[in-house]
Amino acid sequence: MADRDIGSSAGNDSALRIVVLASGNGSNLQALIDAIVDKTLPAQIVAVCSDRPGCLALQRAQQAGIATWAQRPREFADRAAFDAALFAHIDALQPALIVCAGYMRVISANAVQRHAGRMINLHPSLLPRHPGLHTHARALAAGDREHGASVHLVTAELDAGPIIAQARVPVHANDSEDALSNRVRTREHPLLVGVVALFANRRLRTHGNAIALDGQPLTAPLHLDDHDQIQP
Ligand code: GAR
Repeated sequence: MADRDIGSSAGNDSALRIVVLASGNGSNLQALIDAIVDKTLPAQIVAVCSDRPGCLALQRAQQAGIATWAQRPREFADRAAFDAALFAHIDALQPALIVCAGYMRVISANAVQRHAGRMINLHPSLLPRHPGLHTHARALAAGDREHGASVHLVTAELDAGPIIAQARVPVHANDSEDALSNRVRTREHPLLVGVVALFANRRLRTHGNAIALDGQPLTAPLHLDDHDQIQP
């Protein structure tokens, strides 16, 4: 689909070069693609990389004319070998930002450290609550009244890097895991697009794991408001 071909974004040198890592459905990748097509996000997705060949996220990328890279981890000797191949590919593309959007694989500490401050992750909980998996079920089991999603810098410790921004949703009394997950997912899309836009507009900057917004150190996570804007 030529009109949605955003992989090259030829001629827009100032567009932020990003690589997206994804393992599954890719609805957050699609939100990024749509925002670029709509010209609300001045970014260029130079590749989508995955540990799950054939996943829907890769199909979404291909539909949009974006280059893809996908390999099965079991074909590599260990995590370090898989990440060496993955990040060799990524580094050759020289992205300014690496966006983990539903990437379900732990990244080795060495690769994380080499990309400190340039890799963000979308996580389906209000970190530091519920790092790891099954966050919606755990929020329900814990009786949380509020749940949501976070975008944070990736550090070697899983889901523990500095939080950039969060979106909050209420937990209703008779929520199912699916209902809660869908409520969070709907807010993830503007949250992720909004954070990437702050990077693309050069408002968010990082120095290692320190984050600044408009030149001021970020001392508390930003939040997504009811108008899908990211606010202090
Ligand atoms: C999103 O909910 C994201 O927060 C989560 O995977 C989902 C991917 O959805 N990420 C993690 O759990 C990372 N540990 P998508 O494939 O439709 O974008």
